[in-house]
Amino acid sequence: MCGIIAYIGPRDVRPVLLDGLSRLEYRGYDSAGLATLDGDRGSLSIVKKAGRIAELARVVHESTLPPAHQGISHTRWATHGEPTDVNAHPHADGSGDLAIVHNGVIENFQTLKKQLEAEGHVFASATDTEVLSHLIGRAYSESTETGSQRLSGAVKQALRGIKGTYGIAVMHRDHHGLIVGARRGSPLVLGIGEGEMFLSSDAAALLPYTNKVVYLKDFDLVELRAGQFDIQSLTSGRSAFEIEELGFAPDAAERGGFPHYMLKEIHEQPQTIENAIRGRLNAEESSALLGGLNLSPAALRDVERVVVLGCGTALHAGMIGAHMLEDMAFVAAESECAGEFRFKNRPLPRNTLFFAVSQSGETADTLGALREARRRGHIGLGICNNVASTIARESDGGTYMHAGPEIGVAATKSFVSQVAIFGLLTLLLGRMRHMSAGTGTGIIQAYAQLPDQITRILEHQAQIESIARKYAQARSMLFLGRQYHYPVALEAALKMKEISYIHAAGFASSELKHGIIALIDPETPTVILCPQDSLYEKNISTIQEVKARRGPVIAMATEGDTGIKDHADDVIYVPRTLDMLQPILSIIPLQLLSYYTAVALGRDVDKPRNLAKSVTVE
Ligand code: F6R
Repeated sequence: MCGIIAYIGPRDVRPVLLDGLSRLEYRGYDSAGLATLDGDRGSLSIVKKAGRIAELARVVHESTLPPAHQGISHTRWATHGEPTDVNAHPHADGSGDLAIVHNGVIENFQTLKKQLEAEGHVFASATDTEVLSHLIGRAYSESTETGSQRLSGAVKQALRGIKGTYGIAVMHRDHHGLIVGARRGSPLVLGIGEGEMFLSSDAAALLPYTNKVVYLKDFDLVELRAGQFDIQSLTSGRSAFEIEELGFAPDAAERGGFPHYMLKEIHEQPQTIENAIRGRLNAEESSALLGGLNLSPAALRDVERVVVLGCGTALHAGMIGAHMLEDMAFVAAESECAGEFRFKNRPLPRNTLFFAVSQSGETADTLGALREARRRGHIGLGICNNVASTIARESDGGTYMHAGPEIGVAATKSFVSQVAIFGLLTLLLGRMRHMSAGTGTGIIQAYAQLPDQITRILEHQAQIESIARKYAQARSMLFLGRQYHYPVALEAALKMKEISYIHAAGFASSELKHGIIALIDPETPTVILCPQDSLYEKNISTIQEVKARRGPVIAMATEGDTGIKDHADDVIYVPRTLDMLQPILSIIPLQLLSYYTAVALGRDVDKPRNLAKSVTVE
C-alpha cells in the first residue's frame, strides 16, 4: 500500500520519479507527490496533488520546478487524513529544509503530535507522516554530529520513538548528494545502477533501470549516493546484505499490448500454471516435489491437521486447498480468514501445520496470523509470489508461486497459481497416506493438460464479452456453486464487485433456499457453476429453482453438455479436468466476465476505487 520511488544519479530526476510512480500506482492512487533537491541552487522543492499520477505529472510539467538529480516521491493510499493536496506526501518538517515520504502507519502519532505541539510545532496535514518529519527535523537541529551522520543519525533517533511500521526516504537541503532510507514492516528495495541508485517499495518499478537489487531488512537504514550505498542497522553498526538479480524479464511489468494489466494477467495463466508446477511433479513416484517446505517425510507424515490462512482471493484459494487436502489427501484441513484467526483462541492439535497464502507476502493480517501461529509453537509455511516478502522471510519454509509481477489490483493469476500449488501439496501428502500411485499419476496427467485447456477458454473471450455486455446494467448479481465450486463462486463474486462495483455475492448453492432465493427476480442475474460432476443433477435443480422465479441464469458448464442450454439463458463452457483442479479452469471465464462487465461500465479496471494492491495495514 502506497508506493515510494527515490533516485540519485546523473539523470534528470523528474521523469524518473514520474515514470516510477506510474509503475507503482497500483499500490495506491488517491494522491501523489515528489520532492527534488537542486544542488546548484540549494533548493528543495515539493510538488503534490490529490488524484492520479497523471494529475501530478501535469502539475510538474506546468511548474517551474528546476531540473535536479536527486528526488523522492510517493503515491498514496490514504490512512490518516483524506486524499487532499495537503495530506499527500512528501511532507516537510517545520524548517522546510527536510522532506520525507513514508509507507506504513505510525501507531503512536497522536501522542507524539501532542508532545510536539506543546513544544510549538505546527502541523499542516492530518497525517502521521508529518509527525515523523518533525521528529526527524527536531533530532537534526539538536544533533552535534557532522556530515551524513547528522541526517542519518537524526533519522535513527526519530525512529527510536516510533511505534508502527515504516518504509521511508528522506532528503535534507544541507545534504546535497544524499538520500536516507529506512524500513520496518514496509518493503523497501535498493536498486543499484551504473553511477546511480534507486529506492523503491517494489522491485518491479526498477525493472527499466536495473536488475541488481538489495532487499532491505527490517531495521535497516541505507545512505544512498550517486555511485555508492551504505547499509547500517538502526539498532547497531553495519547490516549484512546480499545483492540479488531480479528474475523478471525487463518487460514483465509492462502491459504488452493489452488494454489493461488485468486482461494481460488473465491471458498469462497458461504460463502461470507451468511456472507453478515446473520441476515439482515426480512422475516416477506419482508424487510431488516441494523441497522448500523444509520438512522431512516423517514430519510431513505426522501432520494431523492443516490450517490455511489468507485474505480475499488468497483465502478463497485456501478454501479450495483445504477441501482438496481433505478430499484427496485425507488430511483434516480448514481455511480461515487470517484477520480473524489471529485474534481467536482456537484449540488445535500439536501437529497442526499452517500455511500463510499471500501473493504480495506483505498482507498485514496474514503476516499477523502467521506470527501468531508460530508464536504458539506451530510450523508456519508460506505460499507467496513475492520472494523477498516479509511472509516469505518469516515462515519456516514454503513454496513460491513464480507467477511474475501481478499489477492489476484484482488478483487473477495468483489465484490459479495458489490453487495449483495446493494441488501439488495434496499430491505430496496424499501419496504419503492413502492415495494410490494410479490416482497420483492421474493428477500429474491432468496438470499437463491445464495450460492448453486454459488457452481454449481464452479463445472464447468474445462470447464472454457479449454476455458481460448483456448483464452489465444489473444492480446485483449472485454466484452459486457447490463443493470445490463454492469458493469459486465467492471468488467470482469478489472479482465482479471489486472492479465493476456491481453488488455481487457468492453462496453455496445449497443455501439458495435458506433465504437467498428472496433476491431472485428478472433483474438479478445468477451465475450457477454447474460442472458435470457427481452433483450435476442438484445443480440443474438449482437452475430450475432460479428460473421458476424468472431469474436470468448464466450457467458455467462442462464442454459437450449441450442439454444445459434448455435450462439456462446463457452458457459458458469450460473443458473437464479432475474435480480438484476444476476451479483452475472454472474461474477463468468468470474473471473475464467481471473484466468485460467493468469495461462495459467504463470502470478503471486496474485501479478500482478505494482499493490498493498489497494491504499492509490492518
Ligand atoms: C482481490 C484481491 C485481494 C487480495 C488480498 C490478499 O482481487 O486482490 O482480495 O487477494 O488482499 O492479498 P495477498 O494475496 O497479497 O495477501
